[in-house]
Amino acid sequence: MHTLITEIRDKQNITKEQLQLLLETDDQEMIEELMVCAGTEAQKVYGNKVYMRGLIEFTNYCKNNCIYCGIRRDNCYVDRYRLTKDQILDCCQSGYRLGFRTFVLQGGEDPFYTDDLICEIVSEIKHQHPDCAITLSIGEKSREAYERYFAAGAERYLLRHETADKAHYEKLHPKEMSFDNRIRCLHDLKEIGYQTGCGFMVGSPYQTVDTLYEDFCLIKELEPEMCGIGPFIPQADTPFGKEPAGTLEMTLRLLSIIRLIHPTVLLPATTALGTIHPLGREKGILAGANVVMPNLSPVGVRKKYLLYDNKICTGEEASECCGCMMRRMQGIGYEVVVDRGDHPLYDKKR
Ligand code: SAM
Ligand code: FES
Repeated sequence: MHTLITEIRDKQNITKEQLQLLLETDDQEMIEELMVCAGTEAQKVYGNKVYMRGLIEFTNYCKNNCIYCGIRRDNCYVDRYRLTKDQILDCCQSGYRLGFRTFVLQGGEDPFYTDDLICEIVSEIKHQHPDCAITLSIGEKSREAYERYFAAGAERYLLRHETADKAHYEKLHPKEMSFDNRIRCLHDLKEIGYQTGCGFMVGSPYQTVDTLYEDFCLIKELEPEMCGIGPFIPQADTPFGKEPAGTLEMTLRLLSIIRLIHPTVLLPATTALGTIHPLGREKGILAGANVVMPNLSPVGVRKKYLLYDNKICTGEEASECCGCMMRRMQGIGYEVVVDRGDHPLYDKKR
């Protein structure tokens, strides 16, 4: 194998020069080796198992105005919806019957869901399904709020940092949003004891090798349990609507590098990756990812949670999505497991 790849694997680290080389090379043999090596590292930790999480997109209201995001506040074409507590519980119930033991509650930053209400929803899911893990992905909150959700039973939190370069962050977000606060949130989540996920979009406008190198430095420093990366895909009604999408090729390379420098991380093959290529998620798993997140939201709201254009899986029932995902994973020699799928170093005694 190419010494560059074995060196990154053995040191579990990458220099900016190595990153630049891997992202810019057209040596297909080396890239193939990178992906095979990352796939092997994932298998050393997780075998041929892929964890499945049930995603519930419970609100598309958002008080923020991220420039890339289809559900941003200023997008007046969005048909806004909120799921009630009972609707969320119903999604969990049908997911539970399908075998899901992890639910990811994701939404825009929607003040309608007060901290009290989020705690109530989390405790009720825990009460009905004590053997399940709950992941929240509801944006930037105070430390106190994060502590309350944790006490209510949420043990995982996804908050993509979006980019670890402050100047780049400021080009992707309006002035009212703060890079420092986003990073503060991630440190608070880790300190509280959440299995914490950061992440970024691949090919977002103004992204460079330098900003990506900073993303890797953040991953090394934060040691997140999860890392969500997927291609940026333009949404026509946002200011970035005419920007080019991130590519499959670049996303796969970056997934592989993350697996090599942080081998135990839970790494999803995202819906966005499946959107830019029909076999994107399969390719993502083969390149080192080990998580998939089929959608459990009611079919009636699926098309309304359009972060980007042409999003897949917006017409199928949860059971169809689940069956489709299992067949896809079996097709590449992987087994889908529907248990909690905790991070291997996570202490389950809470
Ligand atoms: N509000 C929560 C938050 O900020 O973490 C969760 C929802 S937010 C919509 C989830 C993620 O979608 C963001 O972190 C971002 O990386 C991703 N996203 C938003 N717009 C996107 C786009 N146009 N293409 C690809 N991913 C996008
Ligand atoms: Fe809602 Fe970015 S637009 S968090």
